[in-house]
Formats: sequence, structure tokens, C-alpha cells
Amino acid sequence: MSKMKLVVLTGAGISAESGLKTFRDSDGLWEGYDINEVATATAWRRNPALVQEFYNLRRRGVREAKPNAAHVALAELENDFDVSIVTQNIDDLHERAGSTKVLHLHGEILKMRSEANESLVYPVEGDIKMGDRAEDGAQLRPHIVWFEEPVPMMEKAAILARHADLFLIVGTSLVVYPAAGLVNYVPYHVPKFVVDKKLPYLSPVQNIVAIEKPATEGMKEVIPHLRKYLV
Ligand code: APR
Repeated sequence: MSKMKLVVLTGAGISAESGLKTFRDSDGLWEGYDINEVATATAWRRNPALVQEFYNLRRRGVREAKPNAAHVALAELENDFDVSIVTQNIDDLHERAGSTKVLHLHGEILKMRSEANESLVYPVEGDIKMGDRAEDGAQLRPHIVWFEEPVPMMEKAAILARHADLFLIVGTSLVVYPAAGLVNYVPYHVPKFVVDKKLPYLSPVQNIVAIEKPATEGMKEVIPHLRKYLV
């Protein structure tokens, strides 16, 4: 008998308790950088060295961070559910916590790619420097989806949402599209849950259970709600 499909949309809030800054809590200045100068396709064209420096700094932070109890709780849910995580996060904390099906809508900071060919992807050992080249001779860049760039994994995420039996949102402000629109692909009758320290605006989406708590506490509270559906 196949397990119930639990689809989880996560954002920066689930990694906050691992010490990784969220975007909107850092009032637009992210580690001291203006997002428009480091996280857009225009920024890369204008000043690629600054963009490399920004992601090299964040990559060191990700390497030092540890998964927190919320990441672990999601990984443990795989014992009872067929869990698919759709994350906006570029860190690898879900994977390190043990989650086996993680889809990164906005890319992965521990990977890099040719700036000319997005299928040439490599693991990042240390930093990426200007002058580091892919096998096609093009400059290597972070394997991250910047603002102004398409989100190729959205189609796959939408299909997962459409087939969910249960849908959980953890730690996202739901302000960045298309990711924020994922909940609209979840069928009306599917039970939805949201855990967030400060609940994001959700249109009167039917039958949603909202838990306004930090992710590590909120996960403890939401798990019994999910388990109620176990046959
Ligand atoms: N526990 C739970 N939720 C938290 C916690 C916490 N400890 N701390 C913060 N939050 C919540 C905030 O209330 C907010 O709703 O996490 C959310 C963080 O929102 P954002 O900073 O906007 O992060 P996110 O929604 O992931 O941003 C989406 O925007 O900058 C782009 O590409 C980037 O993937 C990112 C996207």
C-alpha cells in the first residue's frame, strides 16, 4: 500500500534557527549587501566579482550551519509519508537532515555551473573565482536562480502539488513568485498546514491549519495534525 503523499514547501524561515539569515528579516540588506546588487541577472552582468564574493561568503555560512530540529522532523516524517520537499532555500540542510526527495526551486549554493550552459553543473569545493572556467570555457557561476531568471523546476513542483494528499508550508513569506503560487496547484479538498514565526498572508485558502510559532516548535505541533490522516 503506497504511503500518503506529503508535499512540503519550505523557505528561509526553516533555516533561520540554524543561524542562516532570512531575506526579509534582514530588511533588504542581506549580509550587508543590497539584493539588487548581488541576486539578480543584471547584477551578474554588471559586477560578477561582487556576486561571486557574496555567494562565496554565504556558502561558507551554509557549510558551518547545521540542520535544526525542524529539518530533522521533516526527514523523520518519511517513515510515515511519501514526503516531497519543494524548497526555495539554496542550502543543503534538508539533505543533511536526511530528507531524500528535495527539489530546489531557486538552485543550490553548493553547486556551480557554466554561465553559458546551465546543464554543465559541478559541485563547489571552495570558492568560485572570476577566471574559473567550465569545460565549455565559460565562466563558472553559482547554480542559483536569480531574480529575472526563469524557475525551471516550477513545472515539476506544480505536478507534485497537484498530487499531494497533504500540503505543508514552513517558513516562507510567500512573496516571491512563482514559488509563492505553488499552494494554488493543491486541490481544494487537500488539507493544508502552515508553520511560520509570523504567519504570511494567505488568501482565504480553505481548510488550512495555521501555527504561528518558530519552525522547531511549530513542527512538533503540526505533526500530530498530519498523523491524524494516517489510515
Ligand atoms: N521559524 C519559522 N519561520 C520563520 C522563522 C523561524 N525561526 N524566522 C523567520 N521565519 C519566517 C518569516 O516570518 C517569513 O515568513 O520565514 C519567512 C522568511 O521569509 P523570506 O525572508 O521572504 O524568505 P523566503 O520566503 O524563503 O524568500 C523567498 O526570496 O530572496 C528570494 O530567492 C530568495 O528563496 C528566496 C525567496
